[in-house]
Parts: sequence; structure tokens; C-alpha cells
Amino acid sequence: MLSDKIFLIGFMGSGKSTHGKKLAKLLNKPFIDLDNYIEKKEEMTVDQIFTTKGEEYFREKESEYLKQVIARYPQSVISLGGGTPCFNNNITQILKTGTAIYIEMPADSLHYRLTQSENKRPLLKDKSLEEGLEFIKDLLRRREQFYLQAQLTINGINLTAEKLKEALSLYSASH
Ligand code: S3P
Repeated sequence: MLSDKIFLIGFMGSGKSTHGKKLAKLLNKPFIDLDNYIEKKEEMTVDQIFTTKGEEYFREKESEYLKQVIARYPQSVISLGGGTPCFNNNITQILKTGTAIYIEMPADSLHYRLTQSENKRPLLKDKSLEEGLEFIKDLLRRREQFYLQAQLTINGINLTAEKLKEALSLYSASH
């Protein structure tokens, strides 16, 4: 049975928010972007939280608001931050309460997309181009053990919300 809650997980820049918004529309469910939710609640951007309060504070709040969102939106599509599944055992909450889809993308594509993005991520902002690529490769290697626990993994290159919907119906037909 397909869970009513769908989580999109994956590295920064893999398209979780863009695809999540469209998928929610297709499935006629509310869409929640955890980073945006955190920003509204904390009345600060993610970047400001990292700069003024530090990453540890951000991770605490991220886990707290993840629980809040899970409880508040029983039927929804939720895009998580790149680090959400990798801290404080959040992955257990995610897998227990919903169907997680890992949007998989190679490090060089992520790097390219992140250099083009308007949203400058705090974890990358002080790095040169070369440092950025090495950082992404290393972090991706360490985070994959969490991402790959998702019930579904889908290639993020040329991904569309329609493809995501189809993967979900195939999955639900066989579970
Ligand atoms: C982070 C990813 C960001 C945001 C924060 C930390 C990470 O979200 O939560 O900057 O640790 O990978 P996106 O994946 O939406 O960029």
C-alpha cells in the first residue's frame, strides 16, 4: 500500500523542491518544503540560521520541525533538506511514516546545478569551484548510506513529476 505521505530526499540541488511542488499538484496533495517551513517558523533564512546560530542549532530545529510537519500534514508531499535524513535518526521517522523517494544524481551534475542556482547553500558558499566539487563528492559518498534506505530511488537526470508519479504507482501496485 502506498503511504499517504511522500518524502523527496537527496543531495542539495537534486531538484527535490521543484519536483515536489509539481508532484503534489499532480497528486492533489498539499506540498511542504521543510527548509521553507523552518524559515517561516524561525523568521530567518537557512543561511542566516547557519551564520548566526550555527549548524548544530539548525539540525536540532530541522528534526523538531520535521516531526511537526509529519504530524500536521498526514496526506502530503514533503521535500526535505539534503541533510535531513542524515542527522538525529530522522531517517527512521521518514521511513516509518511515509514513502521516501531518493532523487539520485552524480556529483558533477549536482555541482553544475548548484553553481547555476540562485539559492546559495551555506555549506558551499565559501568554497572555490574545485573545492566545491571535492566537497560534494565526499559528502555524497557519506550521505548515500542514508539516501539509499528510501523505498524508491529514481534517476534525477531528465526527471519529471509525471515520471515520479508513475514510479509511485508502480511501487504501490507491488507493495
Ligand atoms: C543542507 C541542504 C539544504 C538546507 C541546508 C543544509 C544540507 O537544503 O537544508 O542548507 O546539509 O545538505 P537543500 O537540499 O534543499 O538545498
